[in-house]
Amino acid sequence: MKHFINLKDIPAKDLRRILIDAKKRKNVRKKLNNLDSDKGTPLKGKLLIQMFEKSSLRTRLSFFLAISQLSGRTLTLRPDELHLSKGGESIEDTAKILSNFGDAFMLRTDNDKKLEEFKKHLTIPIINGLSPSSHPTQILSDVFTVEEIKKKPISKLNITWIGDSNNVLNSLIAASIKFSFKLKVGCPKKYQPNKSMMNYIKKNKNKITIYNDPKKAVEGADVIFSDKVISMNDKVNKKRKLRDFKNFKISKNLMKKCPRAIFLHCLPRGSEVDENVFKSKQSKVWQQALNRVHVQKSILLYCFGKLR
Ligand code: CP
Ligand code: NVA
Repeated sequence: MKHFINLKDIPAKDLRRILIDAKKRKNVRKKLNNLDSDKGTPLKGKLLIQMFEKSSLRTRLSFFLAISQLSGRTLTLRPDELHLSKGGESIEDTAKILSNFGDAFMLRTDNDKKLEEFKKHLTIPIINGLSPSSHPTQILSDVFTVEEIKKKPISKLNITWIGDSNNVLNSLIAASIKFSFKLKVGCPKKYQPNKSMMNYIKKNKNKITIYNDPKKAVEGADVIFSDKVISMNDKVNKKRKLRDFKNFKISKNLMKKCPRAIFLHCLPRGSEVDENVFKSKQSKVWQQALNRVHVQKSILLYCFGKLR
């Protein structure tokens, strides 16, 4: 049994095994319907319990399809219907029940400590479906998408992030260390990665460069990543933050500076990308979103110790 909480804590070779498995599985599904099972029904009889303390469209649907295609089932709990928070039931007792009734737990939370606390008490795997500090299932899937489109290992590509230093960027930084790819980050000075991320980058002698000029950050890029300037539960002066990011909008002009680049965005989008970029040929956001199903299947198999 393995947990999937942070890319930082998962060996690079295991992350690569997950991607190899996802590719094999995706290749043989071309003629199948969404709910058709993969050969061998690897998770038959298994129950994935999901809980979202924050909104979700893609993660919710993609985990539903992922476990279904592996022949397991999913049940989604609403946090406001449990005793956990308002009713005062402890994480320890909740975890005991989840472990007895289910086979894996996927949690989207606003509190990183909660993931750790659940991990301590669960006897089944826990998967981080987004926390304030990371979004590992998203980024592992994005590495898959980049390699699928560019037909090259990501270590041979130049990756750029334009946007806020948020959970998604933190996971991209972790991925750049695990998969050894060059990463340029373009953001206003005030919104650079925090001290602990900077220390993590330094400790791992990574080639991450930070630019406060978006034009410099996109030079030579094969992939441009972005995300909303204001994340869920971002307790900031929204007007001011949007204003601070005004020069970091992904526009046609900016994309012209990196003609071979594809555009990726985890979604949902905000005003950080212009409509004519989002809907351009360079944008691969729909393929990116669908790949979450394929990669999460292999993440589930990894957690269950059933990766081939
Ligand atoms: N990208 C992503 O995680 O989307 P949702 O918030 O809709 O799950
Ligand atoms: N950074 C965004 C990602 C949403 C999928 C957020 O946390 O809201």
